[in-house]
Amino acid sequence: MNVTIRVHRFTPKPEEDRARRHSSSPFGAKARNGSPFGSSPSRRRVRGKHWTQDYAIQVQPGQTVLDCLLGIKRDTDPTLAFRYSCGHGICGSDAVAINGTPTLLCTAKVEDYAKPESGQNGGANAMADEGFRPTATKENVVANNASVNDSNQSYDDGRSRIIPSSGDPNNLGGFDDSNGAAANSDSPSNLGLIEIAPLPGFPVLRDLIVDIDQMMSQIKKLEPYLKADGKLATTEDGKIDMFEYLQRPEELKRYELLSNCISCGVCEGSCPVYAGGEAFIGPAALIAASRFINDSRDDDTNARLNAIATADGITACQSVRACSRECPRGIDVGEEMWQLTERVKNRQI
Ligand code: SF4
Ligand code: FES
Repeated sequence: MNVTIRVHRFTPKPEEDRARRHSSSPFGAKARNGSPFGSSPSRRRVRGKHWTQDYAIQVQPGQTVLDCLLGIKRDTDPTLAFRYSCGHGICGSDAVAINGTPTLLCTAKVEDYAKPESGQNGGANAMADEGFRPTATKENVVANNASVNDSNQSYDDGRSRIIPSSGDPNNLGGFDDSNGAAANSDSPSNLGLIEIAPLPGFPVLRDLIVDIDQMMSQIKKLEPYLKADGKLATTEDGKIDMFEYLQRPEELKRYELLSNCISCGVCEGSCPVYAGGEAFIGPAALIAASRFINDSRDDDTNARLNAIATADGITACQSVRACSRECPRGIDVGEEMWQLTERVKNRQI
């Protein structure tokens, strides 16, 4: 079976160009935005060239989108950059947007995401449903001739977004069929198109690799570790008593699922507030905080609630609940955000 993988690529400007540009500008070093959770993502933007590139490849049933990218990198285009580690939905390092939906490369099956291309049965409508304009037909794609356009596909704030294909042959990457796959959209063995873009809401470093530093520092700022004061761990005569940390099963149940979060950022890429560029600490950090707020052993619940009761903390959550849809660990993130809102409202001040 054949499939076309369309990748939204990005090449950053060389370091020295960026350094020269910033050193000559009085606006190069902007002041912090006053948020307790750190700098705005827009400050970390990297400038460079955005373009789309198509790869027509052959796939086997059951293959994942990560398998496709690994094959392309090995056999066709070693310059393609993406991040992954475990390959099994555990590390959370390979979050991207596939057909506009934030998810993990390694758990996304090709047959679940391939859509008919424009020109195939219902192709234009199917892609329009996903929010894309009609994509290229094989007639207006030049084989092995990836084109680059850095004027109208470059976004000022440096955050990743789904960039629709324009339908203009000058804007499209060419099919790369050097591995022998035929890009025949009419063939019944042609599964169609899969469009992959960097995770929305994160500054893009190169191709599908985004900068997750800000998300990690936001998680760290909420001190995601157990804070139980020493007296609980000792007996009256000062000996360590491990049994003090026992919990009842119902207490464990309140945070057990939350402790499975892998900090992949899929919920953040799905959140229109976070990915939309508003000041918001983001659902991943709030899930990390909620894991300890719901832990009966933790002594710092009120301080934790105070820490997120800020304009760019839980207060910024608009309860859209898009964050729940694709969490690879099955966490109902939107419901947790709602529960946190209630806890913050009812906390002792
Ligand atoms: S809550 Fe789910 S989607 Fe969000 S970072 Fe954790 S594992 Fe990923
Ligand atoms: S590669 Fe580790 S979660 Fe996908």
